[in-house]
Amino acid sequence: MIQTLEAARADALERLAEGAANRRSAMHVPAVGTADGDMRIMVLRAFDPAEWSMRFHTDVRSPKVAVIAADPAIHVLAYDAEAKVQIRMRGRGEIVRNGPVAESAWNAADNYARRCYLADAPGSPSDVPTSGLPEWAEGMKPSDDALAGARQNFAILRVVLERIDWFMLAHEGHRRAVFTREIANWIAP
Ligand SMILES: Cc1cc2nc3c(=O)[nH]c(=O)nc-3n(C[C@H](O)[C@H](O)[C@H](O)COP(=O)(O)O)c2cc1C
Repeated sequence: MIQTLEAARADALERLAEGAANRRSAMHVPAVGTADGDMRIMVLRAFDPAEWSMRFHTDVRSPKVAVIAADPAIHVLAYDAEAKVQIRMRGRGEIVRNGPVAESAWNAADNYARRCYLADAPGSPSDVPTSGLPEWAEGMKPSDDALAGARQNFAILRVVLERIDWFMLAHEGHRRAVFTREIANWIAP
C-alpha cells in the first residue's frame, strides 16, 4: 500500500514512463481529450518524468490538430486494470512539425508506420470501407521513394502536464492524490 505522497507521485511517473517504453503496458494507449470535448486513443511514444512531458505522433490533417492550435488544453486518461490505477491528467499541447524531435521520431519510424501518413486525411468521407491508403500501398511496405509525400503530414503532439490525479483502487482503502509541479495533496477517492 502506498503511504506517502512521494511514493504516489513516483508511482504515477513510473507507470507513465513504463507506458511509453512498453507496448504491452496498459498505459501505452491512453485516451487524449481536446478542448472541443472530443477524445481518442493515441499511442504514448515517450514520457519525460523530469519535464512531465509526453510525446504522441499524429497526422497534421487530423481534426484534433486545428483544435489544439486554437486551444491547447489537453486531457489524458490512462488506466491499468491489473494494477487498478487510474491516472487522469491535464496539460497543454503543442503540434511540432519540424525540428530535432520531429525529425528523429520520423527517422526512427519504419516504413509501415510512415505509410499511414500517405493515406487520405483522417476523417475524410468515403463511399466504401477504406484504409484511406492509395491502392498501390495496400498490404505492402513502401520504399523510401514512395514515401516522399508522407513526411509533410507527420507531426509530434507534445503535451506538458500541469496536473496529475492518481487513483489506486484497493481493498484496504482506495487512495487518491493530486499533483502539480509545486503541490501534492491527498484527496478523498
Ligand atoms: C490503438 C489505437 C492507437 C491509435 N494511435 C494513434 C496515434 O498514435 N496517433 C493518432 O493520431 N491517432 C491514433 N489512433 C487513431 C485515433 O484514435 C483517432 O481515430 C484519429 O487520430 C482521428 O483523428 P481525430 O481525433 O483528430 O479525429 C489510434 C487508434 C487506436 C484504436
